[in-house]
Amino acid sequence: MSIKLPFFKSKREAPIQVDELKHVPEHVAIIMDGNGRWAKKRGLPRIAGHKEGMDVVKRTVEIAVHYNIKILTLFAFSTENWKRPKSEVEYLLKLPKDFIHTYLPDMIKNNVRIETIGDFDSLPEHTKEAVQYAKDKTKDNDGLLLNFALNYGSRKEIMRAIKLIMKDLDNQQLDLDNLDEEIVSKYLYTEGLSDPDLLIRTSGERRLSNFLLWQLAYTEFWFTDVLWPDFKEEIFVEALLDFQKRSRRYGGI
Ligand code: FPP
Repeated sequence: MSIKLPFFKSKREAPIQVDELKHVPEHVAIIMDGNGRWAKKRGLPRIAGHKEGMDVVKRTVEIAVHYNIKILTLFAFSTENWKRPKSEVEYLLKLPKDFIHTYLPDMIKNNVRIETIGDFDSLPEHTKEAVQYAKDKTKDNDGLLLNFALNYGSRKEIMRAIKLIMKDLDNQQLDLDNLDEEIVSKYLYTEGLSDPDLLIRTSGERRLSNFLLWQLAYTEFWFTDVLWPDFKEEIFVEALLDFQKRSRRYGGI
């Protein structure tokens, strides 16, 4: 599917043509970091960085659609983010609603399906309502899967999987002798999704911050010093170009 890219004046101006990308990562995961620092540099409150970050999410989705990426998983709110000041937490948990309010028509136009991973039930009602609305409205779209990690923490996800597995062993839905990696994957929030091929983290930090610890086992990592609100199309394209050079051996030779 070809979409109009507002940031490249013509298709030919795009830094790489769609057919030049030999290895399109099927699943890209992004740790969108640096909103606070971006705002601080401008003498603005931290939430101004998050607001700008929301608009960058929209543009990033358009690039992902353009280059035929199938899954985009974005770390929007971690289980550790509750430790932030109340006003910032409230703002961060209002952002999904703002995003949906502003951009749902664009998402629908681009055939995007919206989903989440994480502890959805513990989110505030207004966040759940808006996100559920977007999920329902886009459930039949078969283009890009835009997967928000919302109230997500990988260790909690793994703990949850262990408990569910133990329960199913107990009630004989599962047999210990058959338990393997594939079955464990089915107990994670990412059930049914391929593992990320490429992980991007912005802002110069080089850590995983409890993001997709199981799923990133063989993922290619790409880090940039650019702060998330400055994550423009050229930077995403840089990451995609770098991905072309990676030799993925999965432990083989
Ligand atoms: C990390 O930057 C970013 C977050 C905790 C929030 C990420 C959220 C967005 C980019 C907007 C999400 C949009 C939607 C649609 C849900 P930071 O605040 O830790 O930055 P800092 O490290 O510079 O302080």
